[in-house]
Amino acid sequence: MAAMLGVMMAVIVVTGVSGALHPASNVEVTDPQTLHLAGEFVESNLGTAIEPDGSATVRLIAEQYDFVPDCVVVPAQTPVTFRLTSADVVHGFLLPNTNVNTMVVPGFVAEVRTTFAQPGEYEMPCHEFCGLGHHAMWTRVSVTPREKFADQGPLERTRCEKH
Ligand code: CUA
Repeated sequence: MAAMLGVMMAVIVVTGVSGALHPASNVEVTDPQTLHLAGEFVESNLGTAIEPDGSATVRLIAEQYDFVPDCVVVPAQTPVTFRLTSADVVHGFLLPNTNVNTMVVPGFVAEVRTTFAQPGEYEMPCHEFCGLGHHAMWTRVSVTPREKFADQGPLERTRCEKH
């Protein structure tokens, strides 16, 4: 029994220490204190951007108790990369019925890629308990047909039509 416990403790310690020494190669760090001042997550850079290769990149900040922006528009049948970070505590980002499901940890950039086959509306609840306002923290992804998206100006892209 003691030997088993010893082995299990050793596994936990060794994996913990080696994980800390060798973080996954794609770890990206940010400074939650200066997100709004400079760099990728300044306010003017949030929302949906179209890359030269035609794919879309969506940048969002999660904070108690909102996502910024609170709604994004993306084209259907197009590769979409979501890049998120947190300004305060750990939040969660989930698009039901897709492969998008990640924790959003302050100090790190969470990146998820997906492609939406069909136009539609997706509600994104924060799914990591983050405080008293957690239940009211959510945002929306509005997937529009490719052609319609291409007709919109850059400003409309980051916002949703209010219903
Ligand atoms: Cu943010 Cu729960």
